[in-house]
Amino acid sequence: DWTMGAYREEAIAKIREQVGDAKVICALSGGVDSSVAAVLIHEAIGEQLTCVFVDHGLMRKDEAQEVVGMFREHYNLPLIHADEAELFLGELDGVSDPETKRKIIGKLFIDVFQKHADEIEGVKFLAQGTLYPDVIESVSFSGGPSVTIKSHHNVGGLPEKMGLKLVEPLRELFKDEVRALGRELGLPASFIGRHPFPGPGLAIRCPGEITPEKLAILREADAVYIDQIRKHGLYDEIWQAFVAILPVRTVGVMGDGRTYDYACALRAVTSVDGMTADYYPFTHEFLGETATRIINEVPGINRVTYDITSKPPGTIEWE
Ligand code: XMP
Repeated sequence: DWTMGAYREEAIAKIREQVGDAKVICALSGGVDSSVAAVLIHEAIGEQLTCVFVDHGLMRKDEAQEVVGMFREHYNLPLIHADEAELFLGELDGVSDPETKRKIIGKLFIDVFQKHADEIEGVKFLAQGTLYPDVIESVSFSGGPSVTIKSHHNVGGLPEKMGLKLVEPLRELFKDEVRALGRELGLPASFIGRHPFPGPGLAIRCPGEITPEKLAILREADAVYIDQIRKHGLYDEIWQAFVAILPVRTVGVMGDGRTYDYACALRAVTSVDGMTADYYPFTHEFLGETATRIINEVPGINRVTYDITSKPPGTIEWE
């Protein structure tokens, strides 16, 4: 892509000029925006950049390893894997209120990120994958309530508190342009096409109390569901798809026995920007096959439902 090739060169020159020989930190979430920003900045200033991946223990199956592996092995990017699952799950123990969950996760995220940032000498900049729509939104909504809740992954307020300046090389770009830039930088197509994943992770797909047992079941069910969607060639038609594990157990029958296991809900929506969404019209065959696979392959689940709520009045996530 000629345009993105030129943009890349220009952006690199600007980053070098802005940063000089100072150090930069970046919170890597595994999402497309922060990943593209990190790779671009790494190309500009190399080892002056350190990324911190705050692993809250609420990622999907194998996700943390995949993200960390990709950046360390393929990009040789200095990356701290802050494995803080115990801390997060400990603080979330017994908590079922959605807003309380979000607040706990947001606060711990900043604590952990700051702890690691403080250990790096000479840090003067914080890098963020802020896009043009984020810039517009924060202007038009300034002072008002945030509609898309991204607060915890763009570590709001931290730069001032830590005396850091911002590096935001994607500020002029729209989502599709970020994807094009990501391809230009050699990020794998499978990575660039990934569905968005919320900062609070699986916590908001586990209504009610979060337990390690429920998270383990949720990860397996979600992996089977996404595998089904990929096998049927539907992944790229869908904005987001995931499983939510419900805080209810139901009676079932399997083989000769009675089961008493969790019910889950499948969610899949189409959307342009996440602000509104329609549920995805899977065929009954697809839904039936997927339910059978989840119940057969995932111990702990004996009932599968499909969420047919659009947004509004529903939200995409369950919490
Ligand atoms: P809702 O559930 O509000 O979600 O319809 C809209 C989009 O935002 C994502 N989402 C989040 N992303 N931090 C994020 O980075 C969050 O706290 C958060 N909450 C929701 C959600 O996955 C969907 O794409």
